[in-house]
Amino acid sequence: MRTQVGIIGAGPAGLLLSRLLQLQGIDTVVLENRSRGYVEARIRAGILEQHTVDTLRAAGVGARLDREGMQHGGIHLQYPGTRHTFDFPELCGRTVWIYGQSEVVKDLIAAQLEDGPPLLFEVSDVRPVDVDTDHPRIHFTDAEGNAQVLECDAVAGTDGFHGVSRPLVTAGTGGRVWERTYPYAWLGILADVAPSTDELIYAWHPDGFAMHSMRSPSVSRLYLQVRPDEEIEDWPDDRIWEALATRMALPGWTLETGPVTEKSVLPMRSFVSTPMRYGRLFLAGDAAHIVPPTGAKGLNLAVADVTLLATALVRLLAEQRTDLVDSYSDRALARVWRCTHFSWWMTSMLHRSGDDFDAQLQLSQLRRVCSSEAAARELAENYTGLPLE
Ligand code: APR
Ligand code: PHB
Repeated sequence: MRTQVGIIGAGPAGLLLSRLLQLQGIDTVVLENRSRGYVEARIRAGILEQHTVDTLRAAGVGARLDREGMQHGGIHLQYPGTRHTFDFPELCGRTVWIYGQSEVVKDLIAAQLEDGPPLLFEVSDVRPVDVDTDHPRIHFTDAEGNAQVLECDAVAGTDGFHGVSRPLVTAGTGGRVWERTYPYAWLGILADVAPSTDELIYAWHPDGFAMHSMRSPSVSRLYLQVRPDEEIEDWPDDRIWEALATRMALPGWTLETGPVTEKSVLPMRSFVSTPMRYGRLFLAGDAAHIVPPTGAKGLNLAVADVTLLATALVRLLAEQRTDLVDSYSDRALARVWRCTHFSWWMTSMLHRSGDDFDAQLQLSQLRRVCSSEAAARELAENYTGLPLE
């Protein structure tokens, strides 16, 4: 088999990269080791930045997002006694959309299977080789069990945090990993109940962080700060609703409850692997970096990476010019570190850990961001997503 760009992993990063390259006349093959059903069912975050929405629309996969996505002009930031609303259009002229990542993935897969390049599910033993030459190849076993070789001009490692691409880049370049593990986790639930709020609520509370998000006018998504080693069995639904109601309490406001349809504990970590390129192997998305979910940046950062990467690969393959692939890693990492800082900052401001001194600093920061227009604008610009270069 032969293609121009071999793409490993059919998450949002790999699927969107394939689509963007197709629109520029570049051939790709996408290799995914899971099944279509598994990939489409994975529950992830649900906030799309302005540039992500613009990119999906321009790629021709924005129709259902425009029908079913919920455009939001702000968030509520809360600490005991105060619930402050940020007005994003007023602060920075941009908004965000609520649309589940699994819906983005379904839309991209449907487009790819309808008129896109090959997308192979349930492959195994994926192994990129000779990535430090101009003729890299990907060895893999197809779903029928046949050994295959895919010859390429370039390889995209969009295979997520547990993929095979990052170790090759690290080994080949003597690269470096930057990491922070937070001493808490999120317990997340999906519930069949109308959201009790117009905008998302991010709440600081002495018992720990709580958050109210949503997926549709009839489905709510809520999170609680818990210990990283928390057993989900210790959290029957009643205890979850009680903790959520306590941590988000405000006079005159009630949290409506409903049947819980999904519940899980999510670890919180920051992780950056540098550089994002070795020869003709390019990393994008979770393969290169992870942010804690507080800033809602994971998916948006993956989209920003592949937008840069697509332009760089078109320049390389259609014009034989290497300038943009040479600068890809540095340019992508500039945004990665900005989002890493913002996610760390939101996380550190909102989660209880440390002592009472730390709590006073958090409350001081919250009061500042809720009272100074300059501080609020800084939050709004980062939350809605800085423009792509
Ligand atoms: N071979 C083929 N596919 C692989 C391999 C492999 N060896 N290892 C992993 N994959 C696949 C995974 O099954 C997954 O479908 O690569 C895909 C990676 O997708 P994601 O983990 O979704 O990562 P990415 O596309 O970078 O999406 C960015 O945004 O909200 C965040 O973390 C969230 O996944 C999300 C991310
Ligand atoms: C979600 O809806 O899952 C969500 C929203 C905002 C966040 C994190 C998660 O910051």
